[in-house]
Amino acid sequence: MTSQELIALEDKYGAHNYHPLPVVLSKGEGVYVWDVVGKKYFDFLSAYSAVNQGHCHPKIVRALQEQSETLTLTSRAFHNDVLGQYEKYVTALFGYDKVLPMNTGVEGGETANKLARKWGYQKKGIEENKARIIFAKGNFWGRTLAAISSSDDPTSYKGFGPYMPGYDLIPYNNLDALEEELKDPNVCAFMVEPIQGEAGVVVPDEGYLSGVRLLCDKYNVLFIADEVQTGIARTGKMLATDYENARPDILILGKALSGGVFPVSAVLADDDVMLCIQPGEHGSTFGGNPLACKVAQAALEVVLDEKLAENAHRLGEIFRREMRAIESDMVTLVRGKGLLNAIVIKPKNGKEAWDVCLRLRDNGLLAKPTHGDIIRFAPPLVITEAQLMECIEIIKKTILSF
Ligand SMILES: Cc1ncc(COP(=O)(O)O)c(C=O)c1O
Repeated sequence: MTSQELIALEDKYGAHNYHPLPVVLSKGEGVYVWDVVGKKYFDFLSAYSAVNQGHCHPKIVRALQEQSETLTLTSRAFHNDVLGQYEKYVTALFGYDKVLPMNTGVEGGETANKLARKWGYQKKGIEENKARIIFAKGNFWGRTLAAISSSDDPTSYKGFGPYMPGYDLIPYNNLDALEEELKDPNVCAFMVEPIQGEAGVVVPDEGYLSGVRLLCDKYNVLFIADEVQTGIARTGKMLATDYENARPDILILGKALSGGVFPVSAVLADDDVMLCIQPGEHGSTFGGNPLACKVAQAALEVVLDEKLAENAHRLGEIFRREMRAIESDMVTLVRGKGLLNAIVIKPKNGKEAWDVCLRLRDNGLLAKPTHGDIIRFAPPLVITEAQLMECIEIIKKTILSF
C-alpha cells in the first residue's frame, strides 16, 4: 500500500484525535526511521522522548524476545520470578526504598497523586477529602480526567468537565507563588516537571528545583517530580532533578524506561510515603509484568552502559550553540538541556513551524511542532557527533531556505 492509502485508512477507521505529520514509517534502527517507500530519516522526536536508547535497540529487543517466550503476564494475583529483581535494581539505581510499577506515564502521575493524598491524610493529618495538590501552569502529564483537570490548556480540558477537585495552578518557575500555596496545611503535594516538555521545552531558572525542594521541606509537602519526559538521561543527567540535587519525594518515570518498546512506568518513593498504600488500594493488571520488568531493566542498563547521559550532555551543548548561530530571523529562541531542545519559529511569508517540519521531512529529518510555533528537537541519545553535525546541516539548510 502507498503512504496515501495508509493515511486514508487511518483517517477513515481511526479516531481523529491526532494530526500526524504526513509520513508513514515502517522501520526503525538507532537514530533512523524509514518510511514505506524506503526513504530514511533522522528521528528528532524519539516518540516524545520514549526512544532514548534508539529504535529497536538489540539488547532491549533481546530481553523482550527471551522473556516473551517464557512468561509474559501473571497479574499481581501471584508473584513472578522477575518483578522482585527488577524492583531491587530500579530502587538501587534511583536511590529509593520502593517502586510501584505501572504502564503509561499518565498512570504514573495518577499513582503519585493517590499516594500523595493518602500520605496527606495518614501522615500530615489533613481532614478527609480536603487534600490539595498544586501544579504549575503549562504542565502536561497525560490525558486522563485527573491529568486534564490540572491543565490550563483549553484543547486538553475544554468539553470534558466536570473536573477533579482539589487541584490548583500556580505560575511555573515562581517560588514566591509556590510558597504562598504551601502555607495552606491542606496542601499535600506539589507536582512539577523539571523542564516542561509539552509546553515547548520550558527550562526554569537555575535554583528553581532546589528551591522547590527547600519549600516542600519547610511546609511538610511532598515534592512530586514528573520525569516521564525529562528522565532517563534525556536532559544530560539520569534525572533532570540531579542538576540541582533536588531529590523528589515521589519520582515518576515512563517513556524511555522501556526504550520505547511498550508502555512501562514507575513511581518511586521511600517507605514513609509508599507504605501509605495497602493491598487492594491501587494496582494494574499489567503493572509489574515480567516482560515489562525485563525490558525496563535492559533499557536502563543500556543507558548506563552506553553513557547516554554524558552523550546527551555533550551533544546538547553543541546542538544549542549551532542553532543559535543560524542567521535567520525565523529562529527567535533556542532553549533546552541535554538533547531535549526546542526552537521558537517566527512565521515568514506565511510559512510557519509546520511548514518548516514538512520541509525538514523532505530533507530527511523528522520533527513535530508544538503550540503552533515551537519545534522540539529530541533525537535518540545514541546519536553520534558526526550524525548530529549532519542533522544540524539539514536544519540550517532547511531554515535558510525560507
Ligand atoms: C511530562 C509528562 N508526563 C506524563 C506524560 C504522559 O505519558 P503517557 O503518554 O505515557 O501517558 C507525558 C507524555 O507526553 C509527559 O510528557
